[in-house]
Amino acid sequence: MDWVSLFGTILCILCISVFIVMCIGDSDVLTALYCYIGIQPVHAFRDKVIWITGGSSGIGEAIAKELAKCNSAKIVLSARRKEELLRVKSECLGKNNLDVLISNAGRSQRAAWPQTELAVDKDLFELNVFSLLNLNRIVVRHFLEVGRGGQLAIMSSIAAKMGVYHSGSYSGSKFALHGYFNSLRNETYTDNIDVTLICPGPVFSPILRNAFTSKLGQVVDQEYTSGDRRMTADRCAYLSLIAIGNRLEETWVALSPIVLFTYLAAYQPYLFSKLSRFVHSNGLYFRARGAKDR
Ligand SMILES: *[C@@H]1O[C@H](CO)[C@@H](O)[C@H](O)[C@H]1NC(C)=O
Repeated sequence: MDWVSLFGTILCILCISVFIVMCIGDSDVLTALYCYIGIQPVHAFRDKVIWITGGSSGIGEAIAKELAKCNSAKIVLSARRKEELLRVKSECLGKNNLDVLISNAGRSQRAAWPQTELAVDKDLFELNVFSLLNLNRIVVRHFLEVGRGGQLAIMSSIAAKMGVYHSGSYSGSKFALHGYFNSLRNETYTDNIDVTLICPGPVFSPILRNAFTSKLGQVVDQEYTSGDRRMTADRCAYLSLIAIGNRLEETWVALSPIVLFTYLAAYQPYLFSKLSRFVHSNGLYFRARGAKDR
């Protein structure tokens, strides 16, 4: 075999492998690759101080447990209330140097777009965007002041890559996060501050319990049943930590074929739109459980 055909063969195999990973993998291709060639969480977070918001349940809890396996990592957890956050902030920034902030707190939504009250949008943005923004600004200023860099990991969603049925305000809030944090990355790239945007698809977590509806003050209050097709929180936590530990800029974490659809949404919007409509009209469309008209 001459060099040209050898090169051609290798290229073909590589392309086919990438396509197979896109079709059947449970993360984007780069994250899948880093599971094998990258730094594993046990090593990446040794001696690191990590602060997780929303760490008392769901993906946040699973991340905390996965991190607890790396013996010397110091983990700071914080939950919903603002006073709590501020207390943890002062404790965290006061004595230790924080290395990684994982902003995981957030609430989902199940609501028909036309019926959604503006007050719901505002409330949802207050929590999913502004409170997160506020905390991350404080931490970025701290990173800049100390001058030895740091890392911000943002729990976004696949809903930041495509519009999602009955989750209009939620999807909007996740899109907003990408705008904010891609801009931050642009501004601070010489300051050794890394931003990792994590986009999970459907995961087994209690996120529907507190999910917004179309009416202010109302919650969905539902659980997923074990028969649903969702990723486990543990797997999502592991893949998220691969992305954070290897300082990837963005990662998509979802069961197939959602990853493939996300590639189409990002790179082939026309094809994505046609395929989504085809799938929908054939009754195959993925619909989140609990997506009743509210
Ligand atoms: C930041 O964005 C500007 C456009 O606003 C672009 O010209 C510049 O190259 C970007 N810098 C980095 C580091 O991405």
